[in-house]
Amino acid sequence: MQDTDSRNSLTVTDNRTGQSYEIPIDLGAIRSADLRQIKVSPDDFGLLGYDPGYLNTASCKSQITYIDGDKGILRYRGYPIEQLAEKSTFLETAYLLIKGVLPDKERLAVWTYNIRHNTLTHSNVIKFMDGFRYDAHPMGILVGTVGALSTFYADAKNITDEESRKLQVRRLIGKIPTIAAMSYRHSMGFPYVLPEDDLSYTGNFLSMMFRMTEAHYKPNPVLEHALDVLLILHADHEQNCSTSAVRAVGSSGVDPYSALAAGCAALYGPLHGGANEAVIHMLKKIGSLDKVPAFIQSVKDGDGRLMGFGHRVYKNYDPRAKIIKKVAFEVFEETGRSPLLDIALELERIALEDDYFVNRKLYPNVDFYSGLIYQAMGFPLDMFPVLFAIGRVPGWLAQWTEQVQDQEQKIARPRQIYLGEEERAYMPIEVRPKNRIDEQKFGICRL
Ligand code: CMC
Repeated sequence: MQDTDSRNSLTVTDNRTGQSYEIPIDLGAIRSADLRQIKVSPDDFGLLGYDPGYLNTASCKSQITYIDGDKGILRYRGYPIEQLAEKSTFLETAYLLIKGVLPDKERLAVWTYNIRHNTLTHSNVIKFMDGFRYDAHPMGILVGTVGALSTFYADAKNITDEESRKLQVRRLIGKIPTIAAMSYRHSMGFPYVLPEDDLSYTGNFLSMMFRMTEAHYKPNPVLEHALDVLLILHADHEQNCSTSAVRAVGSSGVDPYSALAAGCAALYGPLHGGANEAVIHMLKKIGSLDKVPAFIQSVKDGDGRLMGFGHRVYKNYDPRAKIIKKVAFEVFEETGRSPLLDIALELERIALEDDYFVNRKLYPNVDFYSGLIYQAMGFPLDMFPVLFAIGRVPGWLAQWTEQVQDQEQKIARPRQIYLGEEERAYMPIEVRPKNRIDEQKFGICRL
């Protein structure tokens, strides 16, 4: 038994052996490695924690984002998301996430200048992007291009050099809207639009997306502000799937471009950044208000999910969804109301009163209304996860920077519970029995 303070420890008895162990508790957690001492015999590997999807495993200590999922609270560096959405800008919030404090006027001006002066890409990046098929999904282009940036900035490998890290942070936040807009214009066959210095970060992105022949693109201020708020709301969300991907890949010591490409790839999935696109498909499929009750019933019967509802962490209304719903009405004032909004409102109304959703604590999440806003602004569905990625880049970088500096971190390397074959001897192909393979199931094609 270990000598630990009994007030801050966990006593467990292994009923297989009758032996008791005292395991220290620190910051409300036990160290999984402390379970390894629990063995049935000296050659036993020791007890493991089994946690698919990391439902109850803290992978790091972090000072960036706080979430209380039961109360519906989200704070970046201690600041409530509601206050940041109302009073801050995306670039200021990015500074906060990465540096830990809100900037004064002078620092914000320098930060903004530094980001602006990193918006251009090397012309070979454009050639690289031209290599994608004409109808390539912009998110696939983003994954590939962000990863390819590591080949343009070989200095990014110096991850222990603070100045180099800061430079890569500026480059990534500066270039991501340019690459995002180019991925869209590539898929449309439109010429690329270069970044402009006299527009805001968000206004410049809108210009690179939508500018056609006009000499000076002037973004609609309501839409520009709405998009800026959406980017703030997406800027970080502690150890979600894509951030965990960034940290897992980053833990190998690779450069941040490669680590963030992994984050983009994780965000591509329909259960993560692809959910807002799925919401629009769902609303279109429902088609009209009278079909909403039947759709809700089909979800309850296990035929698909109510996309944009439910969250691993929030067991209450997602605070971001509340802000987004308000922004949606502001945008629709400007663009005209989408008929899909009424279907969404009716879905929400019915679901919030229905025992199935109430008992499982399923509430609208960030994706329920965001897709409707993006659509009203003129973004095609394919671009929705790309917009999520632009917002999330500062969060990924803040988390990556924190990880690189965290002395306790090691290369990510989970354990497994092996359920496969015991050792068996290799059999030459001539003497192997014929395998019974379900040819249809495996799509085997006889040549
Ligand atoms: N519609 C219907 N039932 C649901 C839904 C939903 N959207 N989400 C969860 N459930 C049910 C699920 O079937 C299960 O029921 P039962 O206990 O009877 O088997 C129960 O609720 C718990 O679900 P879970 O899959 O164990 O929950 P999870 O924490 O693993 O999944 C989630 C979280 C977000 C993947 C899930 O709620 C979901 O698939 N939602 C729809 C997709 C979506 O909107 N994703 C965006 C998430 S927010 C943005 C982001 O962070 O990326």
